[in-house]
Amino acid sequence: MRDNFWKNIKRPILALAPMAGFSDSPFRIITSDYGADIVYSEMASVASIFFHQDELDHRTFDILKFEPQQKAKYVVQLFGSDPEHFAVAAKLVEKVINPDGIDLNFGCPVGKVIKQGAGADLMKDLPRAREVIQAVLENTSLPVSIKIRAGAGVVSALDFLKNVSDLPVSAVMIHGRTLAQGFIGEINCELIKEARQYFSGVILANGGINNLAQAQNILEKSGADGLGLARGVLGRPWLFQEIKENKEIELSKLEVATIAIRHARLEEELKGSGAIVDLRKHLCWYAQGFSGASHLRSQLVKVFNAQEIEDIFNAWVKE
Ligand SMILES: Cc1cc2nc3c(=O)[nH]c(=O)nc-3n(C[C@H](O)[C@H](O)[C@H](O)COP(=O)(O)O)c2cc1C
Repeated sequence: MRDNFWKNIKRPILALAPMAGFSDSPFRIITSDYGADIVYSEMASVASIFFHQDELDHRTFDILKFEPQQKAKYVVQLFGSDPEHFAVAAKLVEKVINPDGIDLNFGCPVGKVIKQGAGADLMKDLPRAREVIQAVLENTSLPVSIKIRAGAGVVSALDFLKNVSDLPVSAVMIHGRTLAQGFIGEINCELIKEARQYFSGVILANGGINNLAQAQNILEKSGADGLGLARGVLGRPWLFQEIKENKEIELSKLEVATIAIRHARLEEELKGSGAIVDLRKHLCWYAQGFSGASHLRSQLVKVFNAQEIEDIFNAWVKE
């Protein structure tokens, strides 16, 4: 195996959790600037990579591209259900993208993913999940990590980890909510703590970390090596810095606007102006908690390019 970066990162490890539609290269760059140690890509379909394996300029590879401006370690996340697809995808991702690690998705609850036996549905199928992990381990020299839920159906995170405890999996991010909970409710810190008995690699706790107090509480209760941050850093990438420095940070409107404008500029530069439409929902998060946020949002949902975004944020700062 190549250098296993997971072993050498200072605790607590802070990761940008994978978020389809959000954890793209511009956001990965921004969060790494604010202190994320590891940034995960949006999940990529192994079936899509498998069926386009002769097109190395295919859109999936384009989305996963590593940008040198990104300082954090980069982990590409894969989803699917067929071990053969995973094997081919792992090989190609290493060759074409060359990230620092590969992560496997066992937690996605979205209908179209579940329907193909992938994500949280694959977590329920212990023999197949094991085959998938083995297929990836056999086809890459990169460290392999997994992302699971507290439970899916009758399979708990502990059952899942026991089933693969003999495999050299480097890290697990545990979303401390079950599949039935979806994205709301308490996370199960006791279960994450118990996971330590069945897993010797790095454990990251994930779910419901939206401020410094929650981060400290979950770290302490779960005894995890680090945290995976998801919705809590949307429009608030400096939450990484707050946790790193152990102090709350209040940013002015001007400072927030500067981050949002940089985000928009990076989006246009790296992904083209076509990406701005997808960025609209992301930009709206920057307005949260400020007066005049609803007026700002009503303008942001109509933007088509970075210059418009800059003008809107500059006017908002002066309001
Ligand atoms: C919009 C969105 C997209 C997500 N996409 C992925 C994904 O591609 N892969 C994955 O493993 N989890 C994905 N997740 C789950 C998050 O990584 C995380 O586990 C979940 O949001 C719980 O953390 P939070 O409560 O801090 O948001 C996504 C979540 C959201 C809200």
